[in-house]
Amino acid sequence: MGHADLRRNKQLEFLASGNDIEAGDASLLPISLPELLEVNECSPCVEKRIGSGLTADVFMLAAGGRRWNLKKKRAEILVKNADGQTSFLNEVQRRRDFEMLKKKNASAYGGVVDTAYASLKHGIIVSPWIEGAPVKIYTPEIISDLFNTLFHIETAGLFEYDLCPGNILVQKDRTVKLFDFGYMYPFSPLSEYNADGMELPLFHPVERFETRSFMQYLMDIEDEKDRAAALEEYRMEKELALEYYRRSLSWLRSNGADQAIINWKSDIVELWGKGLKNTAELENLYALESLRSYILDIHDDVGGRSCTAETLKKADRVISAFESGGAVLSSVPALSWGDENSGRAELIHKYRRLREKAVEYQISGR
Ligand SMILES: Nc1ncnc2c1ncn2[C@@H]1O[C@H](COP(=O)(O)OP(=O)(O)OP(=O)(O)O)[C@@H](O)[C@H]1O
Ligand SMILES: [Mg+2]
Repeated sequence: MGHADLRRNKQLEFLASGNDIEAGDASLLPISLPELLEVNECSPCVEKRIGSGLTADVFMLAAGGRRWNLKKKRAEILVKNADGQTSFLNEVQRRRDFEMLKKKNASAYGGVVDTAYASLKHGIIVSPWIEGAPVKIYTPEIISDLFNTLFHIETAGLFEYDLCPGNILVQKDRTVKLFDFGYMYPFSPLSEYNADGMELPLFHPVERFETRSFMQYLMDIEDEKDRAAALEEYRMEKELALEYYRRSLSWLRSNGADQAIINWKSDIVELWGKGLKNTAELENLYALESLRSYILDIHDDVGGRSCTAETLKKADRVISAFESGGAVLSSVPALSWGDENSGRAELIHKYRRLREKAVEYQISGR
């Protein structure tokens, strides 16, 4: 049984036990708990209904002279796999983890939302409202603030898988806040790559950011401006990523991490260092890493039957990279999921078929 399966089973068992898990203090809220549990679109404290996600209904509340965010678990979670079914529990668990982490080191976790009150049994999570917006332009300040928060999350033994644009808010002072922990799981940073244990070295925090957000952002810049402009943004991000991983590597070394983890991280640092030597190397690294992220996105979108025009664009790029052959065919980190053992013709065939599926599974909008 894989690492993630063990975690899923433990969480499903916890859900079956009927036990509660809480964070924060309901008695400090300006709205009583019974009132909170009754909140719907018509409640006087509701300023806005933010939307109805697959896991929860989300509201903006006004009470006690300020705004709050209320996340109410849906009676039936619409993501039918175990990760979807356990995502609310998972988020409450993480809220509790951060409550303790913030008590020990508030400044390190300033980039993580506070929890006013959360309860699994009651199916609610109340947070102060974050006055922010999704990131439009990734400045160096925004990226380094995000990477600093990711460093503290990683060294606390938590791994965030879903760094998508909808889960990152930037505030007026240009600092970043994370607030959605449905897919953030515990791991042992000194002996494991991520929450999949030693099974999937492909996943690491910067890869998660690039795959879920940044590579799409760069693809848009390529369309709006050109590839050279995208490459400059990539260089900026990679320099900050290198700084982040050097810091992480030195933390691993001084905390006695396993050699396998140190080697893995050193290899990434070396790969990025080489990529930043000159523009030709950087082009090469961008080609490999963007391809890796497109491939992961295609699998995610097709698997979730939630494909868009962007999925097709990514599939086209992947297929044409395979058609033109070259370095990409023999390279880690571009290839994974068994692709590294496939020949060129096989890969072209596989991704053409995935593209056909992506045409079939189109949903509107991004
Ligand atoms: N504390 C907060 N302050 C301001 N806005 C928030 C806050 N929490 C959530 N939001 C907004 O509500 C939206 C939905 O919240 P969240 O991401 O937590 O749930 P979700 O996306 O429905 O869950 P899932 O990602 O599982 O679908 C966010 O994209 C964000 O815009
Ligand atoms: Mg979300």
